[in-house]
Amino acid sequence: MKNFFRPLQIGSLKLNSNIFYAPLAGCSDLPYRQMALRYRPGIFFTEMVKMEALIRFDPGTYRILDYEAGMHPIGAQIVGANPKIAGQAARQIEELGFDLIDLNCGCPVDKVTKDGSGSGLLKTPEKLGEILSEMVNAVKIPVTVKIRMGWDDKNIIAPEITKIAEQAGAKMITIHGRTRQQGYKGFADWSPIKESKEVAKEILVIGNGDIFDGASALSIFEQTNCDGILISRGTLGAPWIFQDIVETLEGNTPPPKSNEQIKETLLDHLEKILAYQPQRRALLDLRRISCWYLKKSEGSKVLREKLSRIGSLEEAREVINVYG
Ligand SMILES: Cc1cc2nc3c(=O)[nH]c(=O)nc-3n(C[C@H](O)[C@H](O)[C@H](O)COP(=O)(O)O)c2cc1C
Repeated sequence: MKNFFRPLQIGSLKLNSNIFYAPLAGCSDLPYRQMALRYRPGIFFTEMVKMEALIRFDPGTYRILDYEAGMHPIGAQIVGANPKIAGQAARQIEELGFDLIDLNCGCPVDKVTKDGSGSGLLKTPEKLGEILSEMVNAVKIPVTVKIRMGWDDKNIIAPEITKIAEQAGAKMITIHGRTRQQGYKGFADWSPIKESKEVAKEILVIGNGDIFDGASALSIFEQTNCDGILISRGTLGAPWIFQDIVETLEGNTPPPKSNEQIKETLLDHLEKILAYQPQRRALLDLRRISCWYLKKSEGSKVLREKLSRIGSLEEAREVINVYG
């Protein structure tokens, strides 16, 4: 069996592996990445930040970009549709010490696409290329782009965008095999990833969409010949998924996680949230994160209800310990 797991070089940046954790708005915060760090995916990301907010030095935006010294290699992602400020925004990311900067061309929400940002850029490929060029000219770190395969099923343009991105100097393109119109419905279609890999000369092509375990990771590599993969929702409540995937790609069967392991990891994650977030926010996060970890277990509805009433980590600890 071919082992698709390997190191990857993105421009000047050397990565230990070609399996990445995605930018996830509202999820891939500092505690999420502290947990993910134990398993060392090739690279992980902070969530998307608006170019406009960056260049006006918005404190909330800067907080999203928090990371710790041991977290390299780490990527940041910017979102916006104004080529005039793209270079400045990219420079600010570089000055913060990030190893890579990605342009978001996949976000489907109206609030973002209404000014042509996120997946809105799929409607203006020329502008997308222009923004990437501005970023590439402004920084030394590798510039990359993440797209959906098209705006709708009549406009599947991933291969075309791959060529445009390559020409603009981007070193990597990540393709989510869904259209903007699809949102998160249906299954990801990986064939545009394969077609993009076929037209790519130098640019690396990363597959994304519906990778939830070792088997789906192996399938996307086999079906598309992509250079690497990006896992998104599959990381939520499973910071170890990288290790499970590597085991599978190396021909082994990853051992199932025991309830005890899950509980311990969850409690550890909760501690990290409490150390990072103010009390009120921490309690909200605590409920959300608990559901990620426990969603597959039996009786999680009762637990969810209990957790919605907790007022401290102590209470959370008690409720979770009794469970399972
Ligand atoms: C809650 C949530 C937040 C997301 N935030 C971002 C983001 O900030 N930037 C981005 O490029 N993609 C974002 N995505 C999209 C994912 O990175 C990914 O492309 C998509 O979920 C498909 O991959 P998956 O099937 O492995 O989840 C987000 C997805 C979800 C579910």
